[in-house]
Amino acid sequence: MIYKSQKPTQIKTKAPIVEALKTSVENPTYQFHIPGHTKGQGAYPEFRKLVGKKALLIDTTDEFDNLGTLNPATGPIQEAEKLAAKAFGAKKTFFLLNGSTVGNLAIAMGLTRKGQKIITNRNCHRSVITGMIISGADPLWLVPNRLDEWGIWGSVIPEDVEELLKTHEDVAMVWITNPTYEGVVSDVKSISVICKKYNVPLIVDEAHGCLWNFNKHLPTSSLELGADVIVHSLHKTGGSMSQSSMLHISENSLLDAEKIEKALKLLHTTSPSLMLLASLDAARANLESQKGKEQIEKAVQNAKYLRKRIDDIPSMHQLKPDFGYQTDVMKVFVKADGLSGKRLESILEIDFKIEVESASDVGLLILSNIGNKRSDFEYLADCLEKISKKEYSDICYLENKKHMPMLTPNIKMNLQEAFYADKETVLKENAIGRISGEIIAECPPGIAILVPGELITEEHKSYLEDYEYIDVLMGK
Ligand SMILES: Cc1ncc(COP(=O)(O)O)c(C=O)c1O
Repeated sequence: MIYKSQKPTQIKTKAPIVEALKTSVENPTYQFHIPGHTKGQGAYPEFRKLVGKKALLIDTTDEFDNLGTLNPATGPIQEAEKLAAKAFGAKKTFFLLNGSTVGNLAIAMGLTRKGQKIITNRNCHRSVITGMIISGADPLWLVPNRLDEWGIWGSVIPEDVEELLKTHEDVAMVWITNPTYEGVVSDVKSISVICKKYNVPLIVDEAHGCLWNFNKHLPTSSLELGADVIVHSLHKTGGSMSQSSMLHISENSLLDAEKIEKALKLLHTTSPSLMLLASLDAARANLESQKGKEQIEKAVQNAKYLRKRIDDIPSMHQLKPDFGYQTDVMKVFVKADGLSGKRLESILEIDFKIEVESASDVGLLILSNIGNKRSDFEYLADCLEKISKKEYSDICYLENKKHMPMLTPNIKMNLQEAFYADKETVLKENAIGRISGEIIAECPPGIAILVPGELITEEHKSYLEDYEYIDVLMGK
């Protein structure tokens, strides 16, 4: 394998937040400030045992010990953001707590206002919708290709972007998701050319693509293809801790980064966790180190291995790039003849102790991660083979509903107005024909089934099996 033959060069990568935290642990002080567990002494003993003393020792916020501040970024945090910008090819990077969600909220809040339009794909993450509720902007929906046999949305069609730009005024931005949760990649280059032609910024929710800048077998990052702003959930695939993400502004963007920074300041916690920030700093240092690059290459090769093994199982199928669109090789979407995705997921979990990323009626999503070993994939592939040879019945006893909303919202009212309007809670059956007062979105993948201001129709019912009641607008 390529990664084994490469000779590691010992370039020492810097991780300023990690180093600052280390220094603070090595130089203890008498502490009379938050967090009140005071280096773990006041924590529940079982919890301390579970997470380890060290974890609580470094659980501090940005007011103390020369650790810098997050909003605005100063000291080691500022230094770490600069290093991240360089690593990801950005002009400026902001570290995010509360995930890419807070990045998306800040994009909408900072860059759009009431009455403006945002061109966005139907399968955007619910945080994009929440952003519109905050700012008051209205969506203009892009309906991507539908991959019906896989039960998922595909790529955004560049011509559709142009058509909407041609026919609408006061468009604040084009905001697309790339890749999709299942790894389908859009033609961001063409979309960015169109956006530039109409002088409209392009925002890309690249939450699931943070490794792309570090491996040539992976798609090209949207920053390189002309996007103005992107978000990356480093915690999803980049190796940082849960909730930690980044927002990058591209080198050539004319957007006012300060507007995003101001929104972030209002949206972020005033007690940022240094542990999470350090984990972002560490993840960036790791990804650009020789070892990190080898880990990514290994994950790519592991994904290829798994894909080859799945190809050898006649009753199993996988989403592939040669179906007419590009995909991220590390996200393997699998379906099995005669078994729903949910059923396959439950067999893997109950009979083989395997947990996958997610499952739907149709298939399931397996991620090849930088932390996985080849033997993990050998075991998984062996199990899939065993399942294919055994007569499993397709009793979907876990759930029986549609997961991925494949409907285009029929918006009857501005999202913000609908969210704040007087509402009543009605039985789902009585909600048909009414206007939704809430976002309903199952996570993962967090794609909205209903958004505030949307007309609820019969077609929604099969996506709402888990809901008995829905909030609808009073008298509407
Ligand atoms: C496309 C997309 N964007 C944004 C988010 C939000 O990311 P986070 O969980 O980091 O807040 C998600 C989460 O699943 C997502 O799938």
